[in-house]
Parts: sequence; structure tokens; C-alpha cells
Amino acid sequence: MTEDSGVTRISTDEIRSRKGGAPLVCLTAYTTPMAKSLDAHCDLLLVGDSLAMVIYGLETTRGVTLDIMIAHGQAVMRGAQRSCVVVDLPHGSYENSHYKAVASACRVIEETSAQAVKLEGGAEMAETVAAIVNAGVPVLGHVGLLPQKAEHRGGFKIQGKDDEGAKQVMADARAIADAGAFALVIEGTVEPVARAMTEDVDVPTIGIGASPACDGQILVTQDMVGLFADFTPKFVKRYVDLGAALNDAAEAYADDVRNGRFPGLEHCFGVEKPES
Ligand code: KIV
Repeated sequence: MTEDSGVTRISTDEIRSRKGGAPLVCLTAYTTPMAKSLDAHCDLLLVGDSLAMVIYGLETTRGVTLDIMIAHGQAVMRGAQRSCVVVDLPHGSYENSHYKAVASACRVIEETSAQAVKLEGGAEMAETVAAIVNAGVPVLGHVGLLPQKAEHRGGFKIQGKDDEGAKQVMADARAIADAGAFALVIEGTVEPVARAMTEDVDVPTIGIGASPACDGQILVTQDMVGLFADFTPKFVKRYVDLGAALNDAAEAYADDVRNGRFPGLEHCFGVEKPES
């Protein structure tokens, strides 16, 4: 753990040591207030490139830059004191050269002080993961369904459904773990294969649509709280509908303003407090 204003922050080594232990609790976070609300309850907060869709209204996760991810990483670090914070490397910042991947990863850590970066990809990304880890930056892997590549792989398809697919994702998980990742996100993968991957690798697996067999779970917070309703994958459990609450609040506010009920005298300056 590292000391940060008196609060101990969970390190990537501690996340790694949780293999097979109490389930890791992980959520995405993009802003300071959100990080403040989630921090006490989570082991790991991911500044995911899902923010492209759930914050910026883009159609895929591909439209965000390293600068945008760094700005949100800084915002989350201002709000989270205890959780291990991981920032996604966005599409285009790591795939084509180890040099660029290491430079992007180091920039994220230097400019945000987050604990680690995450990148998507299987065996083809193993050397890149090793290069970043060798440069001193912990890496969270991401295998199975890969949103950054979904467009080129026929959409958001559940992985591991046939023998060939199962072998591929198993090999991907093994390659990324062997390359030195401290943990692996497994996304959108059938339960028996996610279970086998979890048994096969010696680092924790964090599932999203990948069954309770994983060593931990992550959800996109906007999905979990009803702030992104364009579509809701089967693996999401919604715990509250903040989208509906926001709509109701805006409706009540509009009604108050239009009917002269807001602001009241209690919201004004230089007005005698009415006697009660
Ligand atoms: O970008 C993201 O939020 C993610 C999670 C879905 C794991 O990668």
C-alpha cells in the first residue's frame, strides 16, 4: 500500500495477491465526484475508455485520445484515495509500436499518478505488455471481447463459444499473464471458458460478462446506475435508476421555475428571513 494523505492506497501487488481470495470489487470511474462516491467500496477503479460512449456520446470506445484519458485519470485520482486506479490506454496509443506503447503508458503514470494502465489484446499484445512492465509500469490485461476491436470483428460478440474460439481466448489469457500483467479483465466470454481461464492463470481475473468464476467483477458504473440507457448488455445489473431520477428532478425544477415557486425567499440574498 502507498500512503496518500493519510489513507492507504491499494497497490497492484495487493490486487495480484488476491488470486483465489475474496472477490475483487471493481467499477469504472471518470470524474472526481464519482470517484469519491465509489472509492470506499471498491478495490480498483478503472478510468475506462468506455467513457467515449457513456460520457462523450460516441458510438464506439475508439474516439478518445490519450490527452482525454489523462484528464479523466487526473480527475479520478483527485477523488479516490484508497482504490487502486488504472487508466485505459486508448485505441491508437499502443498497438503499432512498443516504443509508442511504453511512452503512452509512462505519460499516463507521470501525469496522473495512477497505479497502472490497461490495454486490450491477446497473444499479439504480449510483447507490448512485457515492454511496458519492463519499463516499470504495471499492466492490467483485457482479453475476451475487445470493444476497441469489435468493429473489425463483427460487433460485440460473446467469445469462447466454439472449440477454436475457446482455445484462442485461453491462449490469449495465458500469454498476457505470462507477459507480466498483474491481473486480467475477461470480457464477454462464456462461463466454462472464463472459469478455465481463471483456473489456468496465476493472476486474478476480473470478469465483465464472464461469470462468477472470475476472481473479481467489474461493471461500467453508468450502466450500473442507469445513466447510460442506449443499450444494456445482459451481464449488467442495475442497482438504481439515476437517469429516471435526473429526469424527475429536471421536470420538478422546470415546473417550479415556470410557476414562480423557485427561487423562494430562502434562496435569496438581502432578504429578511421570514418569521416562522
Ligand atoms: O473501458 C471500460 O470501461 C472497460 C471495462 C468494460 C472493463 O474496459
